Amino acid sequence: MATNIFRKKSVERILADVASGFSDADHPGSGSQLKKELNVRDLTLMGIAAVVGAGIFSTIGEAAFNGGPGVSILFVITAITCGFSALCYAEFASRIPVSGSAYTYAYASFGELVAWIIGWDLLMEYAIGNIAVAISWSGYFINLLEGFHIHMPVYLTMDYFSAYRAHNAIHNHAPAITNLIKSQALAWDIAPGIGDFKFIVNIPALAIVFVITYLVYIGIRETKKATNAMVVLKIAVVLFVIVMGSFYIVPANWHPFLPNGFTGVMKGVSGVFFAYIGFDAISTTAEECKNPQRDLPRGMIYSLIICTILYILIALVLTGMVNYKELQVDDPLAFVFIRIGLKNISYAISMSAVIATASVLLIFQLGQPRIWMSMSRDGLLPKAFSRIHPKYHTPSFATIVTGFVVAVPALFLNLTEVTDLCSIGTLFAFVLVCGGVLMLPREEAIKGRFHLPYINSQYIVPVLFIIGVATFYHQIIALADYTIGWELYKEKLPVFLFFILATALTVLSFNKKLSLIPVLGLLSCLYLMTDLGYKNWIRFLAWLVVGLIIYFTYGYKNSILAKEADGLKAKQ
Ligand code: ALA
Repeated sequence: MATNIFRKKSVERILADVASGFSDADHPGSGSQLKKELNVRDLTLMGIAAVVGAGIFSTIGEAAFNGGPGVSILFVITAITCGFSALCYAEFASRIPVSGSAYTYAYASFGELVAWIIGWDLLMEYAIGNIAVAISWSGYFINLLEGFHIHMPVYLTMDYFSAYRAHNAIHNHAPAITNLIKSQALAWDIAPGIGDFKFIVNIPALAIVFVITYLVYIGIRETKKATNAMVVLKIAVVLFVIVMGSFYIVPANWHPFLPNGFTGVMKGVSGVFFAYIGFDAISTTAEECKNPQRDLPRGMIYSLIICTILYILIALVLTGMVNYKELQVDDPLAFVFIRIGLKNISYAISMSAVIATASVLLIFQLGQPRIWMSMSRDGLLPKAFSRIHPKYHTPSFATIVTGFVVAVPALFLNLTEVTDLCSIGTLFAFVLVCGGVLMLPREEAIKGRFHLPYINSQYIVPVLFIIGVATFYHQIIALADYTIGWELYKEKLPVFLFFILATALTVLSFNKKLSLIPVLGLLSCLYLMTDLGYKNWIRFLAWLVVGLIIYFTYGYKNSILAKEADGLKAKQ
């Protein structure tokens, strides 16, 4: 069993499977080869399409409220973390240019069980992430409708639990009742229902997911055109906010730069990291690229660089235009223009937010079915998930299932909770990708293909470790204090785990001369994970347990590798 769950798919085998078109007895000539038409420009635009969305249009507000102008530092830290991970993704994409993203990479480096875990985990990034984006989209869409004097009943535009909590807050005379809480409580009061069961759902979130799913279903060609157009528009709008906003900066707003210290800045990890998620999503389109080994790495890295520059500038402009304390709003980019009396501009920004977030939805709705397709080809999911539509050449069944998996929870779930889950799941995927690169055999650089440069970590990582220990000495010492009680100590557990892993990685780097970039990727992702709180770790672990149950009841027995091994045994 132990060896079975770690059975690996060799890189040669993965590439050979794709070259053969995955023809199988059940679907002869099913046309399972995807169309190859994406170039580096398309991939960069797709990367930007996936990255610039709900994060920069919504969650930056809360992060800036907590961190002040210093939130721009968090954008730099997160960009560096994502940069290390992007380079590791790029290395894998260059060596294994097939659909499936981190899942396929893990199958080659860690074996089947870890591959399954990562495939299951990627659901958090793509499907759960898209639930967050759909909810955010709905918020901007409602604002837009208001601009046209169209008013939807408020109980059809939000999630049940927010309304329930708001109702309780008002009922219990909780302090700090904001306008948002009042409107959520109003939804509870006027919603139809029986007793405590109220009909409160987010209809626009459901509707947009169905529209996007349809676009993805009918094919990559249409998707590519729609994506390119949306991206050009949203970059133009973000640039406009930066340039126009810069004329209204009041430098006094940047003082103090860190009003709540570094702790305040780090409170924004989930929201800021969420804003960067997506550059890796283009790795799911490897089989649709003309030259994936050269273009995929470039597309990922170019899109990350462009987004990083835009984000840092936006963070500085927003916190320069108004006091950071005012930024705890759902639509900060539009809000700052309302604050300086430019309502029409704020209205145009709301419209562009609707377009920007829709393009994120498009990319993630495109990525999720392709991951399922890869898992199904390996026998870890039923065959229907790898069925390719004869006319549209898209994974049709998997696309429809994705539509439902995203649309239905979007009716009921709360934005913050899904954002946190998406961030922790994605960071975990990055950890596995960086770890996977460390397990790959070293290869000579081949001209025309991306190659991750090897830098010896033997001394650099221990030096960084010592600097880290010296800087966070008091927090590390505090880890040994168990007397504070479980309620307080449990919040420290992620930091404790990080400290253990960082120590282990430092020792390994010193002994084994590991490659520096993946080690730094691992350390920085693990560090960001520590700031996501104990509750999210528990939810995340529960999610993984459910995944393991599914693997052992289905994938373990139906895996193609398992069947081949059984066939070999029978012959012997
Ligand atoms: N980065 C994506 C967004 O912000 C997920 O919407």
